[in-house]
Parts: sequence; structure tokens; C-alpha cells
Amino acid sequence: MMATINAGTSSVRGKVIIVTGAASGIGHATCELFAAQGAKVVVADLNQVGIDTLVGDIEKSGGTANAFQFDVSDAAQCQRLVQHAVKTFGRLDVLVHAAGICKPRPLLELSNEEWCQTLRVNLDGTFFLTRDVGKVMATQKSGTMILLTSDRGVFGSIDYAHYAASKGGMIALTKSLALALGQYNVTVNGLNPGMTDTPLARGANPTNWDAKVASDVLGKASMPEEIAQTMLFLAGPGGQYTTGQILGTRIRHGQ
Ligand SMILES: NC(=O)c1ccc[n+]([C@@H]2O[C@H](COP(=O)([O-])OP(=O)(O)OC[C@H]3O[C@@H](n4cnc5c(N)ncnc54)[C@H](O)[C@@H]3O)[C@@H](O)[C@H]2O)c1
Repeated sequence: MMATINAGTSSVRGKVIIVTGAASGIGHATCELFAAQGAKVVVADLNQVGIDTLVGDIEKSGGTANAFQFDVSDAAQCQRLVQHAVKTFGRLDVLVHAAGICKPRPLLELSNEEWCQTLRVNLDGTFFLTRDVGKVMATQKSGTMILLTSDRGVFGSIDYAHYAASKGGMIALTKSLALALGQYNVTVNGLNPGMTDTPLARGANPTNWDAKVASDVLGKASMPEEIAQTMLFLAGPGGQYTTGQILGTRIRHGQ
């Protein structure tokens, strides 16, 4: 259930934000929070029903949102998403890029197709999208991007080597974007959300969810709404001198 809009003092009131992966989990919660704070939200995902439902809910609560169905692994569709956001709302202030896939498979059993699909969606897609967002923000001389990366991209993984490689690539891309775009007053950061209770995380840990949660340093999974609050901080004044950083939400036990 969305909060009623009460964005009088919000730092993102009136800002234009694209959220990818908006139909589920962290992206969905981010759309709800930023809309409740008075941002104009482009709700983007593969899942048409999911984004239409969310836009309806945001509008019913008095917020401003617009649905755009796209596949992040297609460069032309990423370009159309960015053009759509600028055409609809006149500018682009924030990108939260949460679209991604994570399917477990032991490293030695990984097929070429599984490897390529994960790299295509998670890494190639991030490049296609951030390149086009970067051009708009560089021209505006302002903007911020927050990319959902992962601890696995730092530490590696036995059963998610393809996912870990894609997230490691995203981390390097985050730093490269920050270096390239700092001169244009554009900041770019990665956020490793830690174990967060979403369909992706539950699907990646189908038999050992409770044990995984128990091993978390706080003894619980974060909720998507809590990760959305971290994004709100990064997109607001608190994050304005932070760029090229990969933020984790909590310490992990030894690998
Ligand atoms: N949940 C966690 O514990 C966790 C941990 C580390 C990193 N992450 C990262 O956070 C991000 C969000 O994850 P989540 O847990 O909210 O996942 P989720 O599965 O709940 O949501 C992901 C969304 O991405 C969309 N999507 C998938 N492929 C797409 C494509 N080709 N084009 C457009 N949209 C597409 C899906 O339709 C879905 O709505 C992902 O990048 C994930 O790797 C999540």
C-alpha cells in the first residue's frame, strides 16, 4: 500500500527519475518511495502488467508516473526509454538501474547460453542504458545514477559465476562512468544491497533461504523498502559528493 503523497520538503520533489526493474522487488519499492516524495517516475521493466499496475497505484495516491515497457538487453530499446523520459518530463535527473537476472548454476555446469544471457542482460544492458543516460545528463550538466551491483561481483561465487562476472563488470563500469562524467557534474555509484527479500533473492536461494538469512550479520534480510531509502539518500543532498563508490549495506562474514 503506497503512502499518500506528502512531499513538501523532499529533496527529490519534481525530479525526473527512470527506475528499471520497476515491476518487482527493489525497483518497485524505489518507484513507490520516490513517487511518494514527489518525484516524476518513469516506471520501466519487461513486465508490462507489473508496470501498468504500479503506475495506476502511484496515480491513485496522487503521484506522477509513466510506464515504459522495454528489454534492457536491447540497445535500441534502451535508447527509446531515455528519449521517452526526456520527451515526457523534459529532463532526466536520476537513474536507478535495478533490472537484472540471477539464475543459479554450478560453474562447471554453466552452458554458453546461460553465461551469455546473464552477461547480456546485466552487463551489456547496463552499458547500453547508462551510455544514453550519460549523454543526456552530460548535456544538462547534472544528474546521478545508482546501479544495483552485488557483493558477488566483489567476492565471486561458485554457483553464480556468470552473475558474479556480470556484477563485477558493472562495478568496473560504475567507476569508469564516474570518471568520465564527473566533469559534467554527474555522479555514478553502485549499491550492493545485501540479501534483500525479493523474488530474485528467494529464487536464487530456493532451499536455504532461512539459513542464508540467519547467517546475515543482522540476522535478517533487508526489505526492498529499506534499500529504496538508501537510494533516496544517495539521490539527495547527502549523496552529492559521492561518486565512483560501491556501497554495501552491511558487513559480510568471512568468505
Ligand atoms: N535481492 C537481493 O538480495 C539482491 C542482492 C544483490 C543484488 N541485487 C540486484 O538488485 C537488482 C534488483 O533485484 P531484485 O531482487 O529487486 O530482483 P527482482 O527479480 O525482484 O526484480 C528484477 C526486475 O528486473 C526485470 N527484468 C529482468 N530482466 C529484464 C530485462 N531484460 N529488461 C527489463 N527488465 C528486466 C524483471 O522483470 C523484474 O521486475 C538486480 O540487479 C539484482 O541483481 C539484488
